[in-house]
Amino acid sequence: MGINSQILIVDDDETLCYLLKEELINEGFKVDITYDGKYAIQNIKNKNYDLLLLDLEMSEVSGEEVLDFVKESFPDLQVIVLTAKSEMRTAIDCIKKGAYDFITKPYEFSQLLIIINRAIEHKELIVKNRLLSEKINQNTPHQIIGESRQIKEIINLAERAAKSDSNILLEGETGTGKELFAEFIHKNSERNDKPLVAINCASLPDQLIESELFGFEKGAFTDAKASKQGLVEIANRGTLFLDEIGELSLILQPKLLRFLEKGEFRRIGGVSNLTSDVRVIGATNKNLMEEADNKNFRKDLLFRLNVITLTIPPLRERGSDVLILANYFLDKKSPLRAKKVLSPEAENKLLSYEFPGNVRELEHIIERAIIFSEDNIIQAKDLYLPKINGQEFVYEGNEKEILPMDEVEKMHIKKVLIHHEWNREKSAHDLGISLKTLYTKIKKYDLK
Ligand SMILES: Nc1ncnc2c1ncn2[C@@H]1O[C@H](COP(=O)(O)OP(=O)(O)OP(=O)(O)O)[C@@H](O)[C@H]1O
Ligand SMILES: [Mg+2]
Repeated sequence: MGINSQILIVDDDETLCYLLKEELINEGFKVDITYDGKYAIQNIKNKNYDLLLLDLEMSEVSGEEVLDFVKESFPDLQVIVLTAKSEMRTAIDCIKKGAYDFITKPYEFSQLLIIINRAIEHKELIVKNRLLSEKINQNTPHQIIGESRQIKEIINLAERAAKSDSNILLEGETGTGKELFAEFIHKNSERNDKPLVAINCASLPDQLIESELFGFEKGAFTDAKASKQGLVEIANRGTLFLDEIGELSLILQPKLLRFLEKGEFRRIGGVSNLTSDVRVIGATNKNLMEEADNKNFRKDLLFRLNVITLTIPPLRERGSDVLILANYFLDKKSPLRAKKVLSPEAENKLLSYEFPGNVRELEHIIERAIIFSEDNIIQAKDLYLPKINGQEFVYEGNEKEILPMDEVEKMHIKKVLIHHEWNREKSAHDLGISLKTLYTKIKKYDLK
């Protein structure tokens, strides 16, 4: 443990730094030195340290200021304060602010070493716990992110639809979150302790879809060496999600219809009718009514499916959700300790883009930008938007929608804060408001 950990010593006493560095290197640590808080902050931004050994009294930027910066921007980085006897009060304040421990000068190296090892162990535990809870969260259904009126309305409808036991049809362009809503509905329904089973109707040839859905009996076809349950059986008392249902062939449609009408089905090669109790959620990015008019989809099946229809709005109609989602993906996909942020120009570029691929497209744009941006700020040039006729596919301004004042204010304040790297004083100055008003607004809009 601890070996190879990266330590930064911040002290204006050059001899002390040098000796301490030698001793720590002998113990197997990797060590850097800076002689002032100002350079310490730069180093911390550029390199992944595990531990800071921090003197308090320095000429330009004090140890306390460095500590404030660390706890706000790199909370996992552990800090041990090196202090003179006369600075005891300040040292105790530092512990309250989140320093791991302090040691008074002059100290025994062996004593310091014990504290260092404990601090590094502490840090490793924090990171391990975080990874664990991230892993757990990956197995739970994803959250539906968004604050716009449009998304809130549809979440509200979905919640109410979930409580009924009717079949539901989810309509919406590609990438709007239909699958996410299907999970959400299942989770909010009375069936949530039973399985949610999904099949994509476009992914397989007819015969395979039929055998997946309804199962088969032994000997039904050459490869059927044993009988197999279909998904409708497996989903019994739960939910069956039929993705891309508009692609279901005209041959399979009547079989599905019979199941929806009577709850009855037959395995391929079977002679008796079986029953299963499932709620069906279908999803499509087609207009099924039009498909029905064109005789590509049976109307009677459509009316069984669309007892409740929920239309998920395209991302371009959800206002500042674009930025909320972009930040959510930045949070989720940035490297563990270096969350990247969007520059104001990058934000504008996203706000004026159409997103034909909706949330999925935004997710990919952000993933790519994280990889290609040179530092922690994502610039407009890092956002690769598709080009049409050699021009970026962007529409002018946000004239397509009228935002409430609050939304505009929130977005503007956030932009200025990001521009000044969250320096409140500079931001309040530029915004022409007092620092106190800025703090109130940050709280009101829950800006982070
Ligand atoms: N509101 C949202 N909050 C968080 N993530 C979202 C949201 N909407 C969509 N996503 C994410 O975007 C991606 C695409 O969503 P999803 O697969 O549900 O779309 P879809 O409508 O089923 O698309 P398709 O029609 O192409 O199948 C997924 O990774 C999903 O988790
Ligand atoms: Mg889907």
